[in-house]
Amino acid sequence: MRTTSLLAAVWLTACGGDPAQAPAPEPEPEQTEKTLVDEAAEQMPTYLDLHAQVVYRTCSPTSGVCHNTKEFPDLHTPGNMLDAIGKPCNLGEEPGDIYDGCEPAGDIIRLTTGPRSGDEMTIAWHDVDGDDWVVTLEDPVAGDCEPHRASLRILSGEDKSTIITADGAPMVVQCGSNTVTIQNIASLGPLVSEALLRRVAGGDPNRNGVFGYDGDYGQLVPGNPERSYLLARMLGTVPGSRMPLANQPLSDPEWIAIYCWIETLDADPREEDPIRYDECEFAAQVLAAGKVSLPEALRE
Ligand code: HEM
Repeated sequence: MRTTSLLAAVWLTACGGDPAQAPAPEPEPEQTEKTLVDEAAEQMPTYLDLHAQVVYRTCSPTSGVCHNTKEFPDLHTPGNMLDAIGKPCNLGEEPGDIYDGCEPAGDIIRLTTGPRSGDEMTIAWHDVDGDDWVVTLEDPVAGDCEPHRASLRILSGEDKSTIITADGAPMVVQCGSNTVTIQNIASLGPLVSEALLRRVAGGDPNRNGVFGYDGDYGQLVPGNPERSYLLARMLGTVPGSRMPLANQPLSDPEWIAIYCWIETLDADPREEDPIRYDECEFAAQVLAAGKVSLPEALRE
């Protein structure tokens, strides 16, 4: 009997137990409140979830009138929306209605013969008027004001590659103004068609004196929500009706998801990519402020 009690005491001591007391229960883990960022990550862990919840939901009730082939950008599948990355904005607008930020780089006329050979002039806007091509330049024209012939190239405003070459083009320069008329475009040879001239980009198509192109604004700019026109249209910070048109505005977790998706987008994203909330500056700001901060006007 004595041996048995001794053994029991040794066993209890070895196991750290106290024969007089039952083991204390584990403390319950503290309940922490879910943040808006947690909610976003729970509801929309991947880009596919974001597309289904924020974009497709708002477009599907009005199938055919919203962003299928009818409206640019085509957003009706996740793959189509990814195609908007790196694309220019306002492609469907009349030139006069283009937002300054969506204006393209103005193509350039470079003279290739005569005393001003090498001079370059940036095109602001242009029109085909009957047989003539009337070009308005960014800066007033200097030099030969009499009708004359000149050889020229039209260069891309983005990378200066040659778009059109025309030799001996009959030109009328209105001295002191910004206008050059290239007469009789049919005489410029088979390589210069009216269709080709219409594709030349002016840098100020809305003709308000602002050349809006700066190289890093576009429909969806990976890593840069502030330079992404798509988000600006949803925020209502650019002219035009606010998106999603005629549908309910986004919830706070939805705003976090779309900001963080754009902010952490890879240059070559895949549809099933997770949204990287833990690397997202916008999510960090929401956590610090305890709320999503959008312009007050958007919260009516
Ligand atoms: C979250 C969903 C949506 C997004 C992100 C979105 C985004 C945009 C963007 C960025 C543009 C301008 C494109 C450009 O000029 O570059 C645009 C235009 C347009 N969207 Fe949406 N949209 C959404 C939902 C909708 C819905 C639900 C409708 C219709 C029911 C709609 C109808 C239109 C129309 C008619 C235009 C062209 C006319 C205009 O510029 O106002 N969109 N949308």
